[in-house]
Amino acid sequence: MLIQMINTTKTYGKVESLVEAVKNISLSINEGDYVAVRGSSGSGKTTLLSMMAGLQHPTDGKVLIDEIS
Ligand SMILES: Nc1ncnc2c1ncn2[C@@H]1O[C@H](COP(=O)(O)OP(=O)(O)OP(=O)(O)O)[C@@H](O)[C@H]1O
Ligand SMILES: [Mg+2]
Repeated sequence: MLIQMINTTKTYGKVESLVEAVKNISLSINEGDYVAVRGSSGSGKTTLLSMMAGLQHPTDGKVLIDEIS
């Protein structure tokens, strides 16, 4: 399985209360890769993983699993 994110962004809320949880991330994870996601609380780890898992849709950009969005 190949997981790709291309210029992926996820924001929550509207203009005056906008939170950029994940901002313009691009990455590629290949079959057999061992990956850790680390960062301080609120840096967007759960949001990132939930988009990879297809539980949330990005506000902008793409998440591709085996080249399919
Ligand atoms: N459902 C939501 N609605 C509004 N804002 C949210 C929502 N989920 C997360 N956020 C905000 O998005 C940002 C990233 O949150 P996220 O939960 O992805 O971070 P995290 O790295 O997983 O944090 P933690 O280490 O505390 O689990 C934070 O500012 C958070 O307050
Ligand atoms: Mg989290």
